[in-house]
Amino acid sequence: DWTNESVIDEQVELIRARVGNKKVICGLSGGVDSSVAAALVHKAIGDQLTCVFVDHGLLRQDERVQVEKDYVDSIGVRLVTVDAREQFLSQLAGVTDPEEKRKIIGREFIRTFETAAADLVLEAQEGEGEEIAFLVQGTLYPDVVESGGGSGTANIKSHHNVGGLPDDIQFQLIEPLRALFKDEVRAIGRELGVPEVIVSRQPFPGPGLGIRIIGEVTEERLNILRKADAIARAELTKAGLDGEIWQCPVVLLADVRSVGVQGDGRTYGHPVVLRPVSSEDAMTADWTRIPYDVLSVISNRITNEVDDINRVVLDVTSKPPGTIEWE
Ligand code: XMP
Repeated sequence: DWTNESVIDEQVELIRARVGNKKVICGLSGGVDSSVAAALVHKAIGDQLTCVFVDHGLLRQDERVQVEKDYVDSIGVRLVTVDAREQFLSQLAGVTDPEEKRKIIGREFIRTFETAAADLVLEAQEGEGEEIAFLVQGTLYPDVVESGGGSGTANIKSHHNVGGLPDDIQFQLIEPLRALFKDEVRAIGRELGVPEVIVSRQPFPGPGLGIRIIGEVTEERLNILRKADAIARAELTKAGLDGEIWQCPVVLLADVRSVGVQGDGRTYGHPVVLRPVSSEDAMTADWTRIPYDVLSVISNRITNEVDDINRVVLDVTSKPPGTIEWE
């Protein structure tokens, strides 16, 4: 029967049998899924695993530090950080279509892993010189279903780690969480000693803030959204709502402007959307009834502290018909 320990033991055996003495890399996103997947693979094969953290410039505030410090300290995994901000932003320049964004981000992830893997092989050449054959991904069951990998489901969106992969990928995939839901993954993460700040964090999509900017993704827009997102997260945490909320994307409507007034002056800025949802597994969701007082604080802080944002609106759509992310 099903216990966290038995799932871990079973996966550890499977991974060892499959990998043998080969080398493995894992793309760490800083999110729950890839962090737990990496911890599981690390338990199985130790330093045969190298984690690659890609800073694609689409991250939330403080994300990189949390992975480089908290995670590495508690898991003891080998970590390489790649600064790929320019690469991703230049590939996304001029792109507004959501699926196109997802495909580009998925592709650039893989290209970055390939380059990182080649570098690692060069480094190791003297000794083992073993080719890196496997890539670990934190794919969950709902990702598989919603990317059309389940039984006869339509492709709703290409999750970056499933439908968004390029056809000519050079790795075999290890996806130890492929049969699991988020709450199961969190339980396994705790069992494996993944720090609570990472295990309990809100789900965050691999394509990051890139799919929370409606319109073209630019560095300036990312900086704006990062600030608004950090404020919303801090206030929701402060209000003790993290347990109730599955996640609360903050979405920048970058191509929309509205007239406002601030101080004695007219403004003509952008709106951000708060999208708080409650869910069991992200397959369906309801919008979370956040207390008005909390919404008010978030709205005041964002409009006061973030340049170019002069309006905060609330998304009151369940899933279906809306999806959780806007793109
Ligand atoms: P949607 O927007 O499809 O989101 O209702 C369902 C859940 O999945 C997350 N999400 C992703 N996670 N890669 C991920 O790892 C992706 O490409 C991706 N797209 C959406 C989303 O944040 C929500 O929790």
